[in-house]
Amino acid sequence: MDTNLTQTSSAQSRRILLGISGGIAAYKTAELVRHFKKAGAEVKVVMTPDATRFVTPLTLGTLSENEVHIEIFPENEAGSWTKHVSLGLWADLFIVAPATAQTLSKLVNGACDNMLTAVALTARCPVLVCPAMDHDMYIHPSVVANLDTLRARGVEVMEAEHGALASGLIGQGRLPEPIHIFETACGILEKRAASRTGSLQGKKVLVTAGPTREAIDPVRYISNHSTGTMGYEIARSAARRGADVVLVSGPTALATPENVRRIDVESTQQMYDAVQSHADADVVVMVAAVADFTPEMPSDSKIKKDGTARALALKPTIDILGALGSQKRPSQLLIGFALETDNGESNARSKLERKNLDWIVLNNPKEKGAGFGTTTNKVTLLGTSGAKVELPLMSKDEVAEAILETTLGKANR
Ligand code: CTP
Repeated sequence: MDTNLTQTSSAQSRRILLGISGGIAAYKTAELVRHFKKAGAEVKVVMTPDATRFVTPLTLGTLSENEVHIEIFPENEAGSWTKHVSLGLWADLFIVAPATAQTLSKLVNGACDNMLTAVALTARCPVLVCPAMDHDMYIHPSVVANLDTLRARGVEVMEAEHGALASGLIGQGRLPEPIHIFETACGILEKRAASRTGSLQGKKVLVTAGPTREAIDPVRYISNHSTGTMGYEIARSAARRGADVVLVSGPTALATPENVRRIDVESTQQMYDAVQSHADADVVVMVAAVADFTPEMPSDSKIKKDGTARALALKPTIDILGALGSQKRPSQLLIGFALETDNGESNARSKLERKNLDWIVLNNPKEKGAGFGTTTNKVTLLGTSGAKVELPLMSKDEVAEAILETTLGKANR
């Protein structure tokens, strides 16, 4: 069956975390993944070890186009044990389908013995549970009580369907058809989008990203290794929360995120001018790796070599964020970034104060998986009044989500 247009738009660009536990209906989840992918959602899959006996991680990895997670402590992957936290923060919706009696019991009791149950404890998003098992198990008082407990905690439970079961019996316990799970999930996502849109609706968010380039002559420039990924992910996350997002971007190779207005600039002066014309933003996130110096006398013509040594005179660039800080309105939220290799926390805190910021995001390019040109980042958020939030190593889209989550507060989810 084809997905209709409304469902497509409510699932589009949404992050679906699918938890599969070990029941025969696990084979149906391949089709569920396809519905979400077709609707433009991003899908990540976690499986219990038993689920892999019914459907292969290879199938789900191929369909979801993402790595499938099974164990909390994957072998030979030093440093990735916090994946259960980052996956939980990443998701817009966590679906457990099929949810076996065993997994239901673990969810109720807060057990944490595999990736699925660990993620269930860290997920801050809505959770949809789709139980599937044999009829007698489904109506057993312990299973009924577990489902009631989950409902009482705000978990959405999709009733199992009546029909022929794998045991040969006929009764209630069948996993609903994947299209029906997809439709229910879309309804939850719509409700969530409405509450998120409310929280940032009418809010303007200004994000800067990428490097700046300072011309030496018409063919040469001074710049840095920034690819713009972190800033683009923040712009994307803000747009997904319904904000009116302006992205002032230095030169990058990245595509403009959906529902984001992008202004391309090259030099620090151009970035300053673009930022100033949107300084009325409610939230400013200054991620750009701005050049601190610019040639004092850029040449109009290409400088020719003459066999002698040359010195390049540089002057400081304008501090874009510093200027915003000095003109900051009380209701405005100003967030800066600090890239520090030494004395990170004290340097970042002094920038926080000097530039009159609300938060500063500290990272160290020397740390494994952090900084320029990586798909991951490891940051610490420092706020006024001594606030400090250390985030684990996560993908940059997860970091973006966590930065907004922390700095905007839970009310804006
Ligand atoms: N920034 C800015 N304008 C500049 C330089 C930096 O707006 N000319 C912003 C960056 O986008 C970042 C924050 O200021 O959000 C911190 O940048 P960083 O270069 O790390 O700090 P500086 O204040 O330039 O200090 P230093 O170079 O001594 O580390």
